[in-house]
Amino acid sequence: MIKVHIKNNHFAPDSFPNTEEGEKVFTITRERFDRAAGQYADLAASLDVFVDWDTEHFTASMADTEILVTWNLPTENLAAVAPELKWIHIIGAGVEHLTPMNWLPEGVILTNNKGVHAAKGGEFGLMAILMLHNAIPAIMSNQRTATYDSIYSTPIAGKTVAIIGVGNIGRSVAAHARAMGLHVIGVSRHGKAIAEVDEIFSVNDIEEVLPRADYVFVVTPLTRETENLLSRERLGLMKPGAGLVNIGRAQVVDYDALVEKLEDGSISGAILDVFEQEPLPPDSKYWNVPNLVVAPHISADDGNAYVPMTLTVFFENLQRYVDGKDLDNQVNPILGY
Ligand code: OXD
Repeated sequence: MIKVHIKNNHFAPDSFPNTEEGEKVFTITRERFDRAAGQYADLAASLDVFVDWDTEHFTASMADTEILVTWNLPTENLAAVAPELKWIHIIGAGVEHLTPMNWLPEGVILTNNKGVHAAKGGEFGLMAILMLHNAIPAIMSNQRTATYDSIYSTPIAGKTVAIIGVGNIGRSVAAHARAMGLHVIGVSRHGKAIAEVDEIFSVNDIEEVLPRADYVFVVTPLTRETENLLSRERLGLMKPGAGLVNIGRAQVVDYDALVEKLEDGSISGAILDVFEQEPLPPDSKYWNVPNLVVAPHISADDGNAYVPMTLTVFFENLQRYVDGKDLDNQVNPILGY
């Protein structure tokens, strides 16, 4: 039998989930697990599954656990706590909360939930770009002051979007944007060609891209290389009146500089789904910045199917694990994504 420990989290600030609603969406209950296992009956027959909350039974259960499914874990002394551990599956896409990964015992593989966010994130992305194009952030700001100001727009075809980060979500946004007639420029770590974009650049050349984009869409993981990628100086390279969306991580964009640029109008609108502190506190300055739409980190998470999709990723990878094949979605502990 393969022992699997599922560590769910009760919601808490700056954790995952961080709201009561999120807890309902992201919890892998026994019932949800069994429903997914029904689709993989042979594989599931070889599992001994323990479903837990937080660290209630963590130490005792990890003593014979081979596979851990979780968002986070007590990392201290893991090799001694979990001597049988071979694989940790993280139920989110970002793993920056686990860096630096020098706690990962040698030979233990870490995977993430890559792929689960693409459909929802792609649609949100298209919506956000259309919102910027139609000046919805400004229209929402005007509503707060009962200002009836006719802001006219145009069809979006022919505008340019730069997508910073062309993983699964970025590529999904790119495909939707292209279908609307946008010119799509991708920016990635390596600048390797991908089908969904019209042009691709390496991140080293991001400064060539920013002045060309009507909309800058940020969806990178947070790593040492992406922290403050959209620095004050680089935000200053954006086209006057351009808009920005960030659904990656807050620390990738200099928010203080962004706020100044929204206030002076050099950036016309922004939609932010990610913040350093989540939930965003009621006294945060971001609630009242003109032309800024605050979203509560919901852009890429399917409220009905997050857990079923997560378990499909898990079971497909479990088949590979049992067959002795390389696992999909492996995280590179050095790069941190
Ligand atoms: C994630 C996210 O990392 O939704 O999964 O941001």
